[in-house]
Amino acid sequence: MLYSDKVLDHFQNPRNVGEVENANAVGTVGNAKCGDIMQMSMRIENDIIVDVKFKTFGCGAAVATSSMATELVKGKTIKEALELTNKAVMEALDGLPPVKVHCSVLAEQAIRAALADYYRRQGIDPEPIVGKIEELDHDDEHDFGH
Ligand code: FES
Repeated sequence: MLYSDKVLDHFQNPRNVGEVENANAVGTVGNAKCGDIMQMSMRIENDIIVDVKFKTFGCGAAVATSSMATELVKGKTIKEALELTNKAVMEALDGLPPVKVHCSVLAEQAIRAALADYYRRQGIDPEPIVGKIEELDHDDEHDFGH
């Protein structure tokens, strides 16, 4: 079997789909090669991610990894969320085929993009904290069907 039971489960029953109401951290990233897009929105209070949801216009592995990633960062501190690697997401899903590794990278990047937005809204330069992220600008987001 190409995909683990966990990947199939998170693809068929994705957790935390949609957009968080009153989000104060929203990030959208895309992969230029496959054209897949992922958005994460979060509500952060006192440094804790109290709510997180995702939307993706992407492949099954993108759905499964973002679903798992939201589960892994929910209720965690920003610092803990920044420590979440795509590798950890893949491990939590019992692995992904090599050609699908980039999908998990997209999930990691979407979390970072949301956290970058959180800092930017407070006038803080996010790059030293979350690193460099290739975010989509608003024109690209139209493809996403808002
Ligand atoms: Fe690109 Fe999965 S094929 S995110």
